[in-house]
Amino acid sequence: MKVKKILGVDIGGSGIKGAIINTKTGEMLTPRFRIETPVPATPKDVADTVHRLAKHYAWDGAIGIGFPAVIKNGVAKTAANIDNSFIDTDVNALFSTVTGSPVFCVNDADAAGIAEMRYGAGKNSYGVVILITVGTGLGTVIFSKGKLIPNTELGHITLPNAQEAELYSSDAVRKNNKMSWEEWGKRFNEYLLYMEKLFWPDVFIIGGGVSKDPKTFMPYLTVKSKVVPAVLQNNAGMIGAAIYARQRVKALYPQD
Ligand code: BGC
Repeated sequence: MKVKKILGVDIGGSGIKGAIINTKTGEMLTPRFRIETPVPATPKDVADTVHRLAKHYAWDGAIGIGFPAVIKNGVAKTAANIDNSFIDTDVNALFSTVTGSPVFCVNDADAAGIAEMRYGAGKNSYGVVILITVGTGLGTVIFSKGKLIPNTELGHITLPNAQEAELYSSDAVRKNNKMSWEEWGKRFNEYLLYMEKLFWPDVFIIGGGVSKDPKTFMPYLTVKSKVVPAVLQNNAGMIGAAIYARQRVKALYPQD
């Protein structure tokens, strides 16, 4: 059986990470390579960074990118934590041109969800699963009976306290305001309680940086739904983006 290797990339608010992924097993075949996200994160500078990543691996195959925005047919439609000039940019075309490789972008939380459902915390979940990536932003993805609903932007809902969820309980908010885990955990719990009230999931999977040490915030969560940390932690985005690209390549070239 041929190993289907794809360069998986995760574009985040603070870092752009990549690794070569075996899309059949979800395994990372190389150590991950991380470059700081340029500030401001303009299309040109982000594209140059992705190019540097591809060059680091001397990569000329397909690339999957988890991108922190709504992605419709390869076009970015929003820009919460990246430069506004990304809105309506054909990111598939932008990154393909600069790297010379076929590039397939998918929302970063959707990418993380794809990986966690296949190889991580969602492996045996069948009902309604909500994965929340907690980082610079709050990314969300919902699966119902294993089927992904793309581009849910539930990090931007307004909480009962009239605050936007992402601006109230992201990891960036915790760090910028030097909050204790208790203070932040209680805020995040308010968000989960509201999500529970609206969606009644069977399980919440918590991903992103905070999933590395779940005992820091889990004690403050009071939702009735099951809550589990992501198993693939911060690597889920790269792994899921590679799997997504593999699916796209297969759809375009069924003989491959
Ligand atoms: C963006 C989402 C993204 C999330 C995590 C939010 O601000 O709107 O598209 O998935 O951040 O990066």
